[in-house]
Amino acid sequence: MAFNGNYERHALPVDVVIMAAGKGTRMKSSLPKVLHTLAGRALLRHVFDTAAGLMARSVVLITGHGADLVEASCTGQATTDAGFTLSMVRQEPQLGTGHAVQQAVPHLPDDGVVVILSGDVPLTQVDTLFHLIAACAGKQLALLTLELPDPSGYGRIVRNADGAVQAIVEHKDASPEQRAITEVYSGIMAVPAADLKRWLGRLDNRNAQSEYYLTDIVRFAVGDGAVVVAHKIDDAVQVAGVNSPVQLAALERAYQWRVAHRLMEEGVRLADPARIDVRGDLSCAHDVSIDVNCIFMGQVSLGQGVSVGAHCVIANAVIEAGAVIHPFTHIDGEKLGVTVGQGALIGPFARLRPGARLGAEVHIGNFVEVKNSTLAAGAKANHLAYLGDATVGERVNYGAGSITANYDGSNKHRTVIEADVHVGSNCVLVAPLTLGAGGTVGGGSTLTRSTEPGALTVARAAQVSIANWSRPQKIPKV
Ligand code: UD1
Ligand code: MG
Repeated sequence: MAFNGNYERHALPVDVVIMAAGKGTRMKSSLPKVLHTLAGRALLRHVFDTAAGLMARSVVLITGHGADLVEASCTGQATTDAGFTLSMVRQEPQLGTGHAVQQAVPHLPDDGVVVILSGDVPLTQVDTLFHLIAACAGKQLALLTLELPDPSGYGRIVRNADGAVQAIVEHKDASPEQRAITEVYSGIMAVPAADLKRWLGRLDNRNAQSEYYLTDIVRFAVGDGAVVVAHKIDDAVQVAGVNSPVQLAALERAYQWRVAHRLMEEGVRLADPARIDVRGDLSCAHDVSIDVNCIFMGQVSLGQGVSVGAHCVIANAVIEAGAVIHPFTHIDGEKLGVTVGQGALIGPFARLRPGARLGAEVHIGNFVEVKNSTLAAGAKANHLAYLGDATVGERVNYGAGSITANYDGSNKHRTVIEADVHVGSNCVLVAPLTLGAGGTVGGGSTLTRSTEPGALTVARAAQVSIANWSRPQKIPKV
């Protein structure tokens, strides 16, 4: 849902606090919980992306359990390019959510609105938070809430007779009447920084868990005469936290379902929306069809009319209009990327590696591997072949079982195959060399030197036949 309110996004600067100090015991993992991945990215990375979407001025990350690993994971390009300044604070020991946010106080300017998020809640939508910030309006305490049929474990939203929010009462501290309340606090709030700091200073841990509850600030706000507003949503996925592998898998499915749904709304034909995984950004033109069990990673773009067969893994690639990717093909462009030209036919069982640049109508067949090579329009390598560090001209036919020997044990060398060359089956092209345009290489040749245009080159022992030859006989045992 797009944000249509009249809230001015930059009314006040937004500073985000991400709580990520908790242990995550139920993950039963040596990896800190927030570094487990959903859709191919760490849970914490999703939350950073949300903060970037909010155009946050700063992010304060509260670490604790596994702090070394969590902090080390935050030094990459994605964080430095996010547009906010990141500070990391350790909370040791972990005495509750209020205590966690108290650690952030020295890093929070007084003039902003603070949005509190958790590192293990990955799927909150930016628009939802813009609504929450609008509800805060720079002066109110705004809580993101929702109704849950089974609210046990959650903090309950206690309202007075007029419906005004009075307090959040944690499940363990709640009376039977309060436990009957089904409106719960999601764990996300937006609050003016100066008020937050004042209220945090008054927290104590006199409660059922002997913790410093962030949620106690609601009572302080009400006591101070400040307005507390609840922004209620009905989409539980957006505030769902990950505490166990089961919950992580459930959220992964929820995320993938949403992506599949969006793709179908854009016109993509999915053979089965429950059997596609997008772990990155997939963009599709019209009339794309995708068969079952395909995985897309990194940045992938599929041009008009592209068809992807079952069981393909495609990462960091541009597939141009009309290309057909047959089943069980693996494409991974990593940093260099892969381009598949218009109308190309790839697979089944093909492998395209970084730097494969295939022109229009190129054919790459089963068990053919292409790495860091350019194939011009109409070139074909249909069976069991390797092209590495090669430049292949138009209409070249590259025979079954042929390979470029591009690596001499120390260095990589290039092979140039000019237009209209026909390379027979089972050839070894020992780089560096150039096969001149229109030339032919006899099957089974091992070439170590360049060839002239138009020439037939054969580099193998001449065929010998011995007439009426008899095989050795078995010598009888005595
Ligand atoms: C909290 C809320 C509860 C709300 C629920 C929603 C409090 C007191 N209660 O409960 O009202 O319904 O979230 O999920 O806030 N963390 C730290 N340091 C700590 C404790 C927690 O960083 O000392 C982090 C955790 O890693 C986690 C987040 O804070 O990411 C929330 O902690 P969690 O223990 O899940 O909160 P709840 O007790 O479930
Ligand atoms: Mg807890």
